[in-house]
Amino acid sequence: MTRVLFVCLGNICRSPGAEGVLRAKAKSRGIAVAVDSAGTGGWHVGDPPDDRMRAAALDRGYDLSAQRARQVSPDDFETFDYILAMDASNLATLKDIAPPGHGAVLRKLLGKDDVPDPYYGGEDGFEHVLDLLEGAVDELLEEIGS
Ligand code: 4NP
Repeated sequence: MTRVLFVCLGNICRSPGAEGVLRAKAKSRGIAVAVDSAGTGGWHVGDPPDDRMRAAALDRGYDLSAQRARQVSPDDFETFDYILAMDASNLATLKDIAPPGHGAVLRKLLGKDDVPDPYYGGEDGFEHVLDLLEGAVDELLEEIGS
């Protein structure tokens, strides 16, 4: 079973969305994955995903209501096969805390591009984030499902 951790800044918008999208798409395709998400920051620990992300995700059939924010930890590098950052800042923080010699694949979810932070923007930003996440998760499932 492949274990995947998505990481953003607050763990209330982008990475919880990615978690919900991967869980649903993997289930519908019969691919075994363990999926979780975390934030580099700790401000929202214990909180459910942002209302705007929950609503936008639910419209597409992804129920994020059981998810709660947590902060990423160095132990995550022992637990997960893939640690996928939403943007360059998240990736830099992860590289700073990664234990030397860890075996996880650590990269940005979109490769070269960032998933933009929608927190201070409008509803459109959440739709754009979900569009990006759905495309990236399809590609990820091609990689880990084969
Ligand atoms: P996320 O969005 O990293 O996609 O969860 C944010 C959520 C909260 C904050 C920043 C970004 N914040 O500053 O509280």
